[in-house]
Amino acid sequence: MEKLIYFDNAATTFPKPEEVYRRVDHVLRNVGGNPGRSGHRMALSANRVILDARDSVAGLLNIEDSSRVVFTSGATEALNLGIKGFLRPGDHVITSGMEHNAVVRPLRAMERKGVQVTKVKCSPEGFLDPGDIKKAIRRDTRLIVIIHASNVTGTINPVKEIGEIARERGVKLLVDAAQTAGALPIDVVRDNIDMLACAGHKSLFGLQGTGFLYISPDIQLEPIKEGGTGGASDMDEVPETLPERFEAGTMNTPGIGGLGAGVEFILREGLEKIRSHEAGLTDRLIRGLLNIEKVIVYGPRDSGRQVGVVSFNINGKDPSDVGFILDSSFGIMARVGLHCAPDAHKTVGTFPHGTVRLSPGYFNTVEEMDVVVDAVNKIASL
Ligand code: ALA
Repeated sequence: MEKLIYFDNAATTFPKPEEVYRRVDHVLRNVGGNPGRSGHRMALSANRVILDARDSVAGLLNIEDSSRVVFTSGATEALNLGIKGFLRPGDHVITSGMEHNAVVRPLRAMERKGVQVTKVKCSPEGFLDPGDIKKAIRRDTRLIVIIHASNVTGTINPVKEIGEIARERGVKLLVDAAQTAGALPIDVVRDNIDMLACAGHKSLFGLQGTGFLYISPDIQLEPIKEGGTGGASDMDEVPETLPERFEAGTMNTPGIGGLGAGVEFILREGLEKIRSHEAGLTDRLIRGLLNIEKVIVYGPRDSGRQVGVVSFNINGKDPSDVGFILDSSFGIMARVGLHCAPDAHKTVGTFPHGTVRLSPGYFNTVEEMDVVVDAVNKIASL
């Protein structure tokens, strides 16, 4: 059988650690009840699954009060909640030229409601200069929304420095950590993060359809959905208490259980070990690609300044064609095009055709990097 190489971990990590599969299976087979609703034993077990996952997430990110971790369907919903629940007409918000549409589009929707948006330009490698953020702050600025690491180039932004600026100037900071939670160390206290939006299904090794928003005690948010919360059912408004205020409707218990198992895997394995393995793969991949004539690699081209996301093009070839050949002839799965981040591609200079993106993960091997480089080399010479 053809050996397949999965190189699309920036979209969704695959495979997952064994315990994630085991946890999901266990929850589906043996837990089964509705968390936070009935008082019977299966409902209580379901509630325990959610509580444990919340505690694991809080432990990973140095969140003191785990009830401030609100589970969502992914980073997109988390960002929508952070942006739409916080901003009011007349507010000014600062963002960057490297954002994903999960930030660009909610901000555009808020612009139509009277919010003003400043997009700070980034370098062609995708770097955001904290000094430019400082210059963009106005008297009416209430929020800075930035991506921690680009899903196009992997470029890591100086979140801590931006957090310091935000704190000094009394502006709140919302960080899109879709590509970094589980891949880079994040400490919401050290990094001055007021809201942190994370995907469960990427480097946290959880399932698709899971994610969360951390909301610091200094943040007042309006819910963006209302419904049943299990408790306070006599009220016709969602309760003030967290996390219920933002978690109306039945929770994705198997998915959240799987996410909890993914986070436990990271805590046991050690984030440094994961980061070091992914950085080694990334450097080997970049070096191999740079050796191929006709190949252009975008972004920092240095694993010290990027996560495991590498975008490239072959001169004269359409990225979609390259992606198709990688899959059909070599069994290599990459993501091509604009990666839902047209602004980032404009910054890098690859709009509108985009790039071929290879995103190695913790379960890829050094040998696989060489196989991929060899395949790209062959396609470049076609
Ligand atoms: N935002 C995810 C990606 O970059 C889906 O592939």
